[in-house]
Amino acid sequence: MSDKKLWSGRFNEPTDAFVEAFTASVDFDRRMYRQDIAGSIAHATMLARQAILDEDERDAIIDGLQQIRDDIEQDRFEWSVELEDVHMNIEAALTQRIGDAGKKLHTGRSRNDQVATDIRLYLRDALQEILDELRRLQYALLDLAEAEAETILPGFTHLQTAQPITFGHHLMAWFEMLDRDAERLSDCRSRMNRMPLGAAALAGTTFPIDREYTAELLGFDAPCANSLDAVSDRDFAIEFSSAAALLMMHLSRFSEEIVVWSSAQFGFITLSDSFCTGSSIMPQKKNPDVPELIRGKTGRVYGHLFSLLTLMKAQPLAYNKDNQEDKEPLFDTIDNLKGSLKVFADMIPAITPQREAMRDAAMKGFATATDLADYLVRKGLPFRDAHEVVGKAVALGVEQKRDLSEMSLDELRGFSPLIGADVFDILTLEGSVAARDHIGGTAPHQVRLAIGRARQRLP
Ligand code: ARG
Repeated sequence: MSDKKLWSGRFNEPTDAFVEAFTASVDFDRRMYRQDIAGSIAHATMLARQAILDEDERDAIIDGLQQIRDDIEQDRFEWSVELEDVHMNIEAALTQRIGDAGKKLHTGRSRNDQVATDIRLYLRDALQEILDELRRLQYALLDLAEAEAETILPGFTHLQTAQPITFGHHLMAWFEMLDRDAERLSDCRSRMNRMPLGAAALAGTTFPIDREYTAELLGFDAPCANSLDAVSDRDFAIEFSSAAALLMMHLSRFSEEIVVWSSAQFGFITLSDSFCTGSSIMPQKKNPDVPELIRGKTGRVYGHLFSLLTLMKAQPLAYNKDNQEDKEPLFDTIDNLKGSLKVFADMIPAITPQREAMRDAAMKGFATATDLADYLVRKGLPFRDAHEVVGKAVALGVEQKRDLSEMSLDELRGFSPLIGADVFDILTLEGSVAARDHIGGTAPHQVRLAIGRARQRLP
């Protein structure tokens, strides 16, 4: 391949070798080859329809581009750093293959609108894959929540036992968070799905192009309304990255729970061996590496969001070479988010809940103390007084290492004569969770209703 630059007309001296490597992006932007070729095919199709190219030229271009795509996919394509980026590599290969018609492809466009289009197309495809994995994870959660609708474990605030809850209800909390993440990603797609092509370098083009037609060919909702905006802003990438950061934050918190639950001290779940690794020195170890790694990856996704925000903050209109730096953070975010979702969706069915251990833990820590206070309120005691009475009963339980449900009726009546034999209905774990029977509550009945509603609204 000739090493003559496609833009070398006005240059007298060759590019410094290090500058050439320093400014090149082909090593990372070549992953957009499919989108670049799809964009070029749509552009050539439009140019021919507008009689800017003739039909033979169009056909030669499309045919050549398809062959190049095959070559890339068969690993027969030679990428060249001298040709700087994915766009010029493909264009140069096209001209080498089909001759002069190849040189006409760039009529009425620039790499500035070309790259802005390619990234949107790439992100649009990636978003779909991410949403598919996210939905798979949500379905896995629904299945586990359904199986554990009646399983009781302690609910925590401040990581101290608060009130008994059902495991199904706890899992559905994660489902809801992930559902909002899916909503944010879909929302981001709708703002992103506008087509930059036709903006050319920044001001538009003198050729009689039909942008609506090209947009339709590429599945965009519409052309971008302003040419300067079209080539310069990367807000869609930032919006995606911020939705990705939130989603990773959720996965990280969930991972933390899985790590804690699977510890010997909690023992609420076991995680199948295929999601854990051992230690090279401590033979007894089975480490929850997968959730730990997801927790760790959250940091780099946050970092990429800040890279992109900072990349844009001081750029004047319109395109600047700074924008080439949008790709690596974006690609790394996509890869790690997709990978984390995939492994998470596979990991959920690999969780075995340890119902006994959860129940034993719920029996400790006076999880039904609030139920006793509510009981006294129903018998006519003001809540603050009820709180005080139960506090005294708990103090005795702490001293004697006994749960409230393990005290006799007489002992309990010693704290308040309002207490009757029916108190044991509410001091049990089952009674406690069943009583929270309203939308959003932890009662098994409500958990099943919530799962049913969730199944209905999932695509
Ligand atoms: N590789 C460049 C990028 O990623 C393509 C656009 C370059 N345009 C230019 N006028 N230098 O942004």
